[in-house]
Amino acid sequence: MGKVVNIPDYLIRKACTDDIQELNTIYNNIIREGGATGNQQPVSTASFTNWYHSHQEPPYYIFVIEIAGKPVGYFYFSPWRPGREAFAHTSELSFYLSTKHRGYGLGDIMVKQGITFAADAGLKVLLSIVLEENNRSISLLKKHGFKEGGYFPGVAKIGSKISGQFILYYSLEKDFSI
Ligand SMILES: CC(C)(COP(=O)(O)OP(=O)(O)OC[C@H]1O[C@@H](n2cnc3c(N)ncnc32)[C@H](O)[C@@H]1OP(=O)(O)O)[C@@H](O)C(=O)NCCC(=O)NCCS
Repeated sequence: MGKVVNIPDYLIRKACTDDIQELNTIYNNIIREGGATGNQQPVSTASFTNWYHSHQEPPYYIFVIEIAGKPVGYFYFSPWRPGREAFAHTSELSFYLSTKHRGYGLGDIMVKQGITFAADAGLKVLLSIVLEENNRSISLLKKHGFKEGGYFPGVAKIGSKISGQFILYYSLEKDFSI
């Protein structure tokens, strides 16, 4: 029998400026945990706010997953090779969930919804770039049909550990797959 979980009541919506503080806290806690992102030091509110404002143009939005009126995680789309028109149909998908809300299927929901929003926005290819030790995310992405597109050894140093990255891709249309 598969895993049985009770998915809490949740809402997914576009992020707004009122969310910045909470999302910044989620992200900084994930930095402290290690192994999920290249940032090694907490990101200041000013810097996180700038990042928020750089994700307000379609299709590069931030979406919040909210439980009982409070953001517990977020996912977002970023441009791939920004400024180069040939890559406009491709976007990077990233996702972050607060520690205490993990294991209830919310990661599944974020990735599934991310794929739906990408299709609605007319994107054709999603990429996700994941540190090699991030087995949770690799497994999550593969579960939703992402495929391994490449491996870059030794590109990151997390604490004293040298780490590689995987790039995983998801083709939303047959013509954009290999
Ligand atoms: C990755 C993350 C979003 C998963 O969220 P989650 O709500 O715990 O995941 P779910 O409960 O929805 O589980 C979905 C799938 O994720 C994978 N997964 C989740 N936890 C896992 C674990 N501890 N080990 C291995 N795979 C795991 C599995 O494939 C799982 O499917 P299964 O239960 O059918 O095996 C969450 O762990 C997280 O926010 N991690 C830190 C941030 C991060 O790494 N972001 C990626 C950078 S882009």
